[in-house]
Amino acid sequence: MESFYQLLLLLGIFIVALPMHSSSSPPTRLFQFNVEWRNVTRLCHTKSLLTVNGKFPGPTIIVHEGDNVQVKVNNRVPRNTTIHWHGIRQLRTGWADGPAYITQCPIGAGKSYTYKFTVIDQRGTLWWHAHFSWQRASVYGAFIIYPRMPYPFSPTPVRPDIPIIFGEWWNGEVEAIENDMMLYGRGPNSSDAYTINGLPGPLYPCSNEDTFIQRVEPGKTYLLRIINAALNSELFFAVANHTLTVVEIDSVYTKPFETSAIMIAPGQTTNVLLTANQIPDSTNMFVMAARPYLTSVFPFDNSITIGFLKYKTSNFEKEKQTPKLPSVPPLPPNLPPMEDTGFATHFLNGLRSLASTEYPCRVPKKVDRQVITTISLNLQDCPPNQTCKGYRDKRFFASMNNQSFVRPSMSLLETHYKKLLAGLSSNFPGKPPHEFNYTGVDPLSENMNTEFGTKLIEVPYGTRLEIVLQDTNFLNPENHPIHVHGHNFFVVGSGFGNFDSSKDPSYYNLVDPPERNTVAVPMGGWAAIRLNADNPGVWFIHCHLEEHTTWGLAMGFIVKNGPKPSQCVLPPPSDLPAC
Ligand code: C2O
Repeated sequence: MESFYQLLLLLGIFIVALPMHSSSSPPTRLFQFNVEWRNVTRLCHTKSLLTVNGKFPGPTIIVHEGDNVQVKVNNRVPRNTTIHWHGIRQLRTGWADGPAYITQCPIGAGKSYTYKFTVIDQRGTLWWHAHFSWQRASVYGAFIIYPRMPYPFSPTPVRPDIPIIFGEWWNGEVEAIENDMMLYGRGPNSSDAYTINGLPGPLYPCSNEDTFIQRVEPGKTYLLRIINAALNSELFFAVANHTLTVVEIDSVYTKPFETSAIMIAPGQTTNVLLTANQIPDSTNMFVMAARPYLTSVFPFDNSITIGFLKYKTSNFEKEKQTPKLPSVPPLPPNLPPMEDTGFATHFLNGLRSLASTEYPCRVPKKVDRQVITTISLNLQDCPPNQTCKGYRDKRFFASMNNQSFVRPSMSLLETHYKKLLAGLSSNFPGKPPHEFNYTGVDPLSENMNTEFGTKLIEVPYGTRLEIVLQDTNFLNPENHPIHVHGHNFFVVGSGFGNFDSSKDPSYYNLVDPPERNTVAVPMGGWAAIRLNADNPGVWFIHCHLEEHTTWGLAMGFIVKNGPKPSQCVLPPPSDLPAC
C-alpha cells in the first residue's frame, strides 16, 4: 500500500515539460492543465472532486529561473474557473495572474486559456491554485523554480526535494458550503480533515491507508518545500526529534534559522533543511504533524494531520511491502499547542532576508506614500425578508478600512487597460474612516455596517509604498494572512495592539526584513509592509483565508504605466477570456 501511495505522489510530480529551443534565449516550458472532476475517496467518503489532470493535489510545475512558462488550461467542467500562480511576479504580464474579475474574466465551461509568463529573478518554492470562488479547496499544486546559481546555504540537500503541501478535506461539497455561508451570512462549516499531500493520516476515521510516508536515508540532508494551501487555517508543523532550518520563505532566501517547528499561514511557503540524524526505534519512523494555530473563536477544524519520516534500513525492500503504522502514533513533542501565539511570534520574528551581495534586500528606506488600513470582520444588518444566522440575527462580512470589496462584473485590468474606469474609483481611503480603539475591548458598535464597493489604491510607477495592516478586535481578533499580487513586499515591522505612527516606525527593520508575498498579521495587532510599485497593472490584495475574501476582505491596487515602454503593461493576449 505504502509504495502505491508513493508512486501516486511521484506520478503527480512529473508532468511533461518540453523545452522548445536550445539557443541562448530562455527555454519555453509547456504544460497542459485539464480542469476536470475525479472521484476521490478520503475518510471513507467518495466524492467528485475538482482536480487538475485528475490529480489531488495537482501536478507539480518544475521550471528554472528565467524560463518562459506557458500553461494551457482547458476547462472541462460546467463551471467557470481560473488559475493563479501564487507569488509569481508577472512583470508586465498581469493578464496571466489569474484572479477572476481582477486580471481576467473566468475561463468558461469548455473553454481554454493559455497563461504565458516569464519567471524573472525568482527562485524557490511557490504554488498555484484556482482563483475562482472556493475551487482552490482541491485545485492546487506546487510551483518549483530551480535557481541558476547554487544554493546559498549548506549542506546542499540531496535530491529529490520533499514537497509537503497542507490542505483541507471536506466530506461534503465545497460549493454547497460556500453557498450556504453566503445564503445565511454565517461562518462556513469547518473541514473534516487537514491533509499532507492530500492525505489526512491515521488520526482521522477510516484513514490509515491515506497516510503520507517519506523515506529518508540516515545521515542525508533533505529540502522540505512546505506550502500551506489550506483554505482557512494557519498551521503549526513539526517533525518529532528533528530540527528544521528555514532557508527560504515565499521563494526568497533567508538567513538560515533553526527552529523546532514552523508556523505557516495560508498562501505562504517555507523551505526547510532536515537532516536525518536521529537514532530511530524499532519502527524506524518519526512522526510529522500539522495542527491549526488557533486564532478564532468561531468553529473550525481543530484536528491534526500526521505523516511519517521512515528511515531506510538494510531491510528496505522487505519493509516496502509491510508498512506498519503505530496504532496510536504519539504527536511530536515539539509541535506547539494550538493557542501558542508566543511560539508563532517568536518564529515570525526570527525570519530575516539573507541580504547578501548576490541576493540583496531591496527594502525601500523611504516611502512616497503610506496607507493605513484596518482589516476587519463586520456584522451587517440582515436584508428584509431574509434569514441571517451570522450572529445576533445579522450576517458576517469583512472589510479593509470599512470597505467591503465587491468583485466587478468585468476584469479590472481590462477596464484599466482600455481606460474604461467609469464606475470604478481609485479612492480607497488612505486611513481608517473612523478612528477607534481597533484592538480595544468592544469595538463592536464602531464597526457594525460596512460599505460595499470596488475602491482601489492607484499609484504612479515606481512609488515606494507602505501599507500598515491593522487588525481589529471586532467580534474576534484573528491572524489574517494578507497576500499582495504582482509584488513581493518587506515586513518592516509588526506588533500587538494599535499601530502608533509616532513610535512604531522608529523600530522598523530596514536592513534585512523578511521579503514575502503573504504576511500573517498578528492577531490583535498590526504589520507594516513596504514595496516598490514596479509592476504596472491591476493587482489583488486580500486575506488568504477564503472565508474572509468571500466576505470582502480585499482591495484592488493599480500601478500605472511608467514613462518607458519597458514600464508598461503588455497588450492583452488574443485568447483572453471575455466576460
Ligand atoms: Cu493565493 Cu489571490 O491568491
